Amino acid sequence: MRIFIVGYMGSGKSTFGPKLANALQLPFYDLDILFEERYKISIQNFFSKYGENHFREFEHQILIEAAEMEEFILSTGGGTPCFFDQMNFMNERGETLFLNPPFEVLVKRLKTSAKKRPLLQRFGTADFEKNLHEHFAEREIYYKQASFIIDEASPVEEEVAEQIRQYYLKIS
Ligand code: S3P
Repeated sequence: MRIFIVGYMGSGKSTFGPKLANALQLPFYDLDILFEERYKISIQNFFSKYGENHFREFEHQILIEAAEMEEFILSTGGGTPCFFDQMNFMNERGETLFLNPPFEVLVKRLKTSAKKRPLLQRFGTADFEKNLHEHFAEREIYYKQASFIIDEASPVEEEVAEQIRQYYLKIS
């Protein structure tokens, strides 16, 4: 079973991923962490030293390598599905799960962590919510191509795991 968790920054991918992996008894990986371990640099520093385009190329490589594994839950970065046809790539390799909490929840979570997130620094403070909304809307098109869409702000891992088990039973 290969499951890619996708969703905007602050959607809870890195928190929910390990819980779901535990419920499904699968190994868990986080693409951002794989990136930082491989290149021995934080994503924040990478962005400021080399820029977003380089980040996307390197992220692409890590995704392709990770997808070679047979079984995993992989939390991806907020931008992963939106570059290099990666949403299709992930859907071909396995299943994708879109974590889609209400927009107000994202705003609340991201307001407190904007400093640590390189992309959000561009949004400023005055128009933060408006800019975030526009950016989210551009990305939603990709996220919505996921095999599973979870709209709760705090999904219950056992319930989602059961939904996934049922799905695999049906297609096997
Ligand atoms: C990004 C999201 C980040 C990280 C990088 C770019 C994005 O991951 O990959 O800063 O483009 O939305 P999280 O979604 O885990 O914060």
